[in-house]
Amino acid sequence: MKPAIHLQSTGEPEVPVRAAGLTTCQAPWIEQARARGELYIEQPYELYSEENHRAWRSLFQRMGPRWERYANSHFLAGVRALCLNPEQVPRLNDVNRFLSPLTGFRARAVSGYVPAFVFFDCLRNREFPTTITVRPPAQLDYLPEPDIFHDIAGHVPMHTDPQFAATLARFGAGAHTAAERAGNARDVHRLTSIIRAMARFFWFTIEFGLMREGDGLRAYGSGLLSSFGELEHALVSPAVQRYPIQIEWAINQSFAIDRYQPLLFIVDSFDHLFRLVGELEAWMRQGKLDHVAPGEPAIGEADLDSFVRKTEVHAGPALTNP
Ligand SMILES: [Fe+2]
Repeated sequence: MKPAIHLQSTGEPEVPVRAAGLTTCQAPWIEQARARGELYIEQPYELYSEENHRAWRSLFQRMGPRWERYANSHFLAGVRALCLNPEQVPRLNDVNRFLSPLTGFRARAVSGYVPAFVFFDCLRNREFPTTITVRPPAQLDYLPEPDIFHDIAGHVPMHTDPQFAATLARFGAGAHTAAERAGNARDVHRLTSIIRAMARFFWFTIEFGLMREGDGLRAYGSGLLSSFGELEHALVSPAVQRYPIQIEWAINQSFAIDRYQPLLFIVDSFDHLFRLVGELEAWMRQGKLDHVAPGEPAIGEADLDSFVRKTEVHAGPALTNP
């Protein structure tokens, strides 16, 4: 779908949206979509600038050798299966053409932050909310916001693995248990605690998880797999604590997003991770997530509200409640 070319509104001299590209935090087209309240968007591919493609190329090329060395074998197989083009920002439609037949997952473009319930429920439906902007060239090493490299090159290769995909969908289904447990969100303290526990579990597994493989450790967490510096640091630095995962520890453990993670958790396999997700949900039902330790991440109004309005915010007929 060819996007319309919009112009920035008032005040400053008008800058064509096309000229601005789709750079993270500097993309008027995305800002406008967000201002219109559009969470799910098309990927306006023509708007990517040469600078955006250059950034993708640099990121992809330098990660290659590090992935070979530190990424788990399921991820490496996923990168190959997706046929990602190292030279150009990927089109989500192309990615999905390879991805969906494998596990039913698909990447779906979003304009920005996805509130907690909506995000989890998308996972349950095997949809991955995907950022389409590209980090600025000056911030190739680190960006607090997700970008398309993090989402497509860091997350999506994992979604080609059937066991991992099933784990992610099962994790997402936990949002409905959470809503139920919190009396459809009337108990704000309980709901805040459960969302925090889920977010921490996600952080220490899906984003920053390590897995045993062969006689060593490999990364499967996407925050690691999309970071040139942190991927190696996570696996070789003596400054990092690496422990077998314990749910009770992970859900009570705060974290900071703006530095290399000093503490990482290890799973034995994706079968192990799948069982842990089942255990997490059982714990949720037993009330063990109702009062986790305070601290990061902060759970905002939009997250809580998304649970309250859970039947209203779904994007379309593909998303249905059980
Ligand atoms: Fe992520």
